[in-house]
Amino acid sequence: MNFDIMLERKVKEIESIIKGYLPEESGWAKTVAEAMNYSVNVGGKRLRPMLMAETYRLFGGTDSVIEPFMAAIEMIHTYSLVHDDLPAMDNDEYRRGKKTTWVVYGDAMAILAGDGLLNYAFETALRSFGMPGSDADRKAKALSILAGKAGIYGMIGGQTADIEAEAMGDRVTQEQLLFIHEHKTAALVQAAMMVGAVLAGADDEQIRLVEKAAYEIGIAFQIQDDILDVTSSLETLGKPVGSDARNQKTTYVTLKGIQEASREQRQMSDHAIGMLRSLEEDGARNEFLIELIRSLITRIK
Ligand code: IPE
Ligand code: IPE
Ligand code: MG
Ligand code: MG
Ligand code: MG
Repeated sequence: MNFDIMLERKVKEIESIIKGYLPEESGWAKTVAEAMNYSVNVGGKRLRPMLMAETYRLFGGTDSVIEPFMAAIEMIHTYSLVHDDLPAMDNDEYRRGKKTTWVVYGDAMAILAGDGLLNYAFETALRSFGMPGSDADRKAKALSILAGKAGIYGMIGGQTADIEAEAMGDRVTQEQLLFIHEHKTAALVQAAMMVGAVLAGADDEQIRLVEKAAYEIGIAFQIQDDILDVTSSLETLGKPVGSDARNQKTTYVTLKGIQEASREQRQMSDHAIGMLRSLEEDGARNEFLIELIRSLITRIK
């Protein structure tokens, strides 16, 4: 079957899984649930749950125990976007083609919706313990990876360095930018793929290889995000272009120019694919996953 048709079908499946785990909108605190659901349901590529499910399949996983983790990582990712768009951070008014959460619900409710999504992600992932498929040790290990990669040594750490770098102008070094991209973006890509591998029973060496490949996939992904911030449009991207320039961000584009940035992201992506291909010797093969990764470097949104 054609890749685009498969992709579309898989996105739909993922969205119905996520929907099943979202909170009910009722009671005195229903506004926060509404804001959480708005932020998640508004759309997005669903890349992280997809990478998780496809890495799970790569290592032979077939159970629905992966599903609460898929919903959880999309909740964490969405919370990071809700907070990233706040006036105190990137101050953006569009996301996924719609008004950002803070524009619709106000800053206070957007902060709480982000908090709510982060906490609900763990409430959701913990539900896997009541499900068959995989054992408690693997589930605990998966949770620990998810928590760590989302935290101060992962995504939150990267966002911290990203915000502080705004004031440094052109003194931001390549090394510092790599730290930012690794943590703010690659960490959740690593979490997605590693959780899939762990739950399917991959061994330690395979998990380490997945972590390294996901590092490069994540950096390449953020480089393309930086490029699109310069070359795309609000209509196509669903979020404002020129946000990085407005916020004095150093990006791969400001540091190296579009051509070199493109070249490096392609190189990293190809290298990551080569690493994943090496797993084929162990019988772990998933052509859709490879195509998905390849599609990211030329994506337009
Ligand atoms: C946006 O992530 C934030 C980055 C880490 C670049 P995505 O580009 O995956 O956003 P959605 O989920 O498709 O909206
Ligand atoms: C944000 O990076 C990464 C997150 C952890 C949210 P950006 O600030 O470049 O993401 P966009 O461009 O707003 O999606
Ligand atoms: Mg940002
Ligand atoms: Mg932003
Ligand atoms: Mg960006």
